[in-house]
Amino acid sequence: MSTRTPIIAGNWKCYKTVDEAIALAEGVVRAVAEIPGVEVVLCPPFVALTAVRQRIAGSRVRLGAQNAYLEEGAFTGEIAPRMLAGLCEYVILGHSERRRIFGESDVTINARVRAALGLGLSPILCVGESLEQNERGDMEAVVSGQVRAALEGVNGQQWLGMGGAIAYEPVWAIGTGRPCHGPAANAIIGMIRGLLAGLYGPEAAGAVRIQYGGSVNAGNIAEFMEQPEVDGALVGGASLQVEEFGSIVRKAAELRAAAG
Ligand code: PGA
Repeated sequence: MSTRTPIIAGNWKCYKTVDEAIALAEGVVRAVAEIPGVEVVLCPPFVALTAVRQRIAGSRVRLGAQNAYLEEGAFTGEIAPRMLAGLCEYVILGHSERRRIFGESDVTINARVRAALGLGLSPILCVGESLEQNERGDMEAVVSGQVRAALEGVNGQQWLGMGGAIAYEPVWAIGTGRPCHGPAANAIIGMIRGLLAGLYGPEAAGAVRIQYGGSVNAGNIAEFMEQPEVDGALVGGASLQVEEFGSIVRKAAELRAAAG
């Protein structure tokens, strides 16, 4: 069994006021306090990062942002990686909602990955095929193209040193209540690991955490954690409630402990 520490990250998307985010973070801290062996990351909206940071201080919960631009400057509405450095450890990059709704491309995602790494942030790089691409059987080509493009010019040691993770999130599974099947997610994630082995060598590839994301909840987390290549989950909707998210983390920890 792998020695990679699973990572369960909650992507709160564009939900929760600052006060609601504080309450959710405090609840999660309590819910996961006694659960070992899983890294828990909360990714609230930008405006709640500072408040959530204070509430999770001293706990095992880590903090992530949901995106970052490349640099400071005249970029109204954007957040630069230097503003996040020192505030949080992780940053989600290349989420399909950013790609689809806000027009982010492989090229700008690569620039964001490099900028974030350069400032000491750990990317959670999201990749995944659309429904149409899935129906055409193009999953592997699409996902490998996205991974290659996002990591273009990225040094493997730097990626590993920062503990960067990858989240395989098929677009058709996000927010639809229709998750990917565990073995199918395992196959794509194994393919990503093979690609990383080609880029950075097998040892480095064996150390990178690759999560599954898309309609994960407490009822189906087991199906993913049972897969040898899957190192946790990026959770959207089900991360917005303390009980549900807490039980995802608990089940993930139990399954990994049983497998280990
Ligand atoms: P979902 O979202 O769990 O609500 O499907 C996952 C994500 O977008 O990261």
